[in-house]
Amino acid sequence: MVAARTREVEISGIRKMFEAAPPGAINLGLGEPDFEPPPRVLTALCEAVRNGHNHYGPSAGLPELREKIAERYRDRDPSTGRENVIVTGSASEGLMATALALYDPGDEVLVPNPGFVLYGPQARLVGAVPVPYSLPESRGHLPDVAELESLVSSRTRAIVVNSPANPTGAVLPKSLVDRIVALADRHELTIVSDEVYEGIVYDGPAASFWGRSDRVVVVQSFSKMLAATGWRIGYLVASRPLAVELNKIHYHVMACPSTPAQVAVLAGLDAPTPGPAMLREFARRRELVVKLLRGIPGVSCVPPAGAFYAFPRYSWPLASGEVAGALLARGVITTPGDAFGSLGASHLRISFAASRPSIRRGLAIFRELGASLDGGRAA
Ligand SMILES: Cc1ncc(COP(=O)(O)O)c(C=O)c1O
Repeated sequence: MVAARTREVEISGIRKMFEAAPPGAINLGLGEPDFEPPPRVLTALCEAVRNGHNHYGPSAGLPELREKIAERYRDRDPSTGRENVIVTGSASEGLMATALALYDPGDEVLVPNPGFVLYGPQARLVGAVPVPYSLPESRGHLPDVAELESLVSSRTRAIVVNSPANPTGAVLPKSLVDRIVALADRHELTIVSDEVYEGIVYDGPAASFWGRSDRVVVVQSFSKMLAATGWRIGYLVASRPLAVELNKIHYHVMACPSTPAQVAVLAGLDAPTPGPAMLREFARRRELVVKLLRGIPGVSCVPPAGAFYAFPRYSWPLASGEVAGALLARGVITTPGDAFGSLGASHLRISFAASRPSIRRGLAIFRELGASLDGGRAA
């Protein structure tokens, strides 16, 4: 028999789609860049393993990597040092360690709806209550600060923000970042800012929350930045007292992050991340995806300002799992919008971490499916 929390937590909708996919399917479901890590990073990993970096390291990460990461945040807060940085075994682990370190049972946490699949379940796993705030298409998938204010109660402990966002691709404008910081300050909330898509932007930079308040935890990852999702390596940036507490929990979750992966990613931080070639290609695909989606009758789409997802809405009276299922039966993997929360209903997440020919073929099939939908039933 397992614990109640284990019975209650669900398998992510993203994983379910993957596991049901036929071989050779066109994959517009991927949440990872279809690129390889930069050559110097690959070489550094091989050399690290051959040169004996195969053992436990410090729980908070190698000092030289923490220092290099801290340097990247000094433009936002010149006092940022290695003590502010905890190297984690991915953003997923960083988010879980943050939830364990911050939330008591019964605490409330404001989470985006639609939003990345871990925020709500991780809050629940530690006994906290996720309180969704809305990111509807009608507002360009941006939060309404008056709504956030109305959701704050005496139990609210934190607000989770994610810009650029998965699944919507929305980027918070600086003015909204300012207002969210002011709201968090007024109510003494911690801001958990998931910035894993920082740098994957199309209409100008995304404003970071770092340096805006003492109660900020930045969650980052090398997964998207270096196209190294399988290496499971990321980091947290927090105030020094909070970093000490986060490190205690992080130690109990995984002892220390992978030593060779740390040596390798360190070699990647001398160049801009993500690399310009990957960014140029994502920008071309973004134009293509938006154009093709907007050409499908019954489909609307806010152009994503960042990340590599479009989040189109369709007007057929079908659940997003039915539309994604009908596409899967035609050999195209997408992710049903409601895997990301109730406001993902009538949406699909289309990842453009796929080649342009795959995007063209996949969206042509989506277009055919749209044309065949009659009286609200998938043909
Ligand atoms: C918004 C967001 N946060 C965190 C993660 C997890 O990243 P990692 O591979 O570092 O666990 C993802 C992965 O898709 C994501 O989209």
